[in-house]
Amino acid sequence: EDAALAARFQERVDAEERIEPNDWMPEAYRKTLTRQISQHAHSEIVGMLPEGNWITRTPSLRRKAALLAKVQDECGHGLYLYAAAETLGTAREELVDQLLSGRAKYSSIFNYPTLTWADIGAIGWLVDGAAIMNQIPLCRCSYGPYARAMIRVCKEESFHQRQGYEIMVTLARGAPEQKAMAQDALNRWWWPCLMMFGPPDGDSQHSDTSTKWKIKRFSNDELRQKFVDATVPQARFIDLTLPDPDLRLNPETGHWDYGTIDWSEFKQVLAGNGPCNRDRLAARRKAHDDGAWVREAALAFAAKRRARAAA
Ligand code: 3HC
Repeated sequence: EDAALAARFQERVDAEERIEPNDWMPEAYRKTLTRQISQHAHSEIVGMLPEGNWITRTPSLRRKAALLAKVQDECGHGLYLYAAAETLGTAREELVDQLLSGRAKYSSIFNYPTLTWADIGAIGWLVDGAAIMNQIPLCRCSYGPYARAMIRVCKEESFHQRQGYEIMVTLARGAPEQKAMAQDALNRWWWPCLMMFGPPDGDSQHSDTSTKWKIKRFSNDELRQKFVDATVPQARFIDLTLPDPDLRLNPETGHWDYGTIDWSEFKQVLAGNGPCNRDRLAARRKAHDDGAWVREAALAFAAKRRARAAA
């Protein structure tokens, strides 16, 4: 690879210039962005499954309308991100095949079950809250199509987080059974949400290059800390207890120190042994097969139109 081109590229990144699809870029930059953006897209699409599970069982029409809107938004985020990933040269069919074959990852968080209605509140509040922490800096990512996709996504994400927190406020201030349901959901979602930010910086394989290329603006641990600092007061405001006995405000740093994360659980989930990994992939494979007729019809229609245009 021409060293001069690589040096020129780094100068552009250092000068905060946006890299666009037709610009020269190191193959490793293309590869790591295709990896991250496509896995981000997979996360949005798979993320529809745990939430979709409750659309027919919401406690009110208002909650149903908000959850429907959120799940539709996630689908749109996924399609937006596949389109951004395709600008790097890999066809969507190939990206989708990587997910369906189990070769590509999606966010660990979506391998947990949604057992009660309170889980929908916890997901909006915590999972989308974590996603916002991670996606706001990505609006300043060096790769143009990804950064621009994130600006649109973040606007919708704040609605997701707010509607989730409102569910938790309602439950926490409701009957004792409702508060217990909210506390149970917090207990089950808190630690997996901390794992969403990725392994500790020392074990992060991509952080160095992603930081050098201004894909990653904050490290995994920095974003994790931001999330904890923002969320602890929110839990306390509704009198819910975070399931971490080691949690304490550090007077020197002003940050909330938290307990030890069980990284063996994280590794198990990434290895495909989480509570719902098999169900999630089975559901995606079935949806893909059930949708084959739509893809075939679209291709047949496109061929007909080409034939008519050529006639
Ligand atoms: N789940 C699954 N895999 C994870 C993970 C997680 N929570 N965290 C890290 N990993 C994987 C990485 O993909 C990488 O594996 P790979 O080489 O096969 O891709 C490996 O663990 C090492 O981790 P690194 O820290 O080196 O990887 P990254 O530098 O890519 O950092 C990341 C991980 C912070 C998740 C980064 O990829 C990122 O910012 N991705 C974009 C944001 C994203 O995907 N968020 C997921 C949630 S999307 C969402 O929440 C939708 C919302 O609407 C609810």
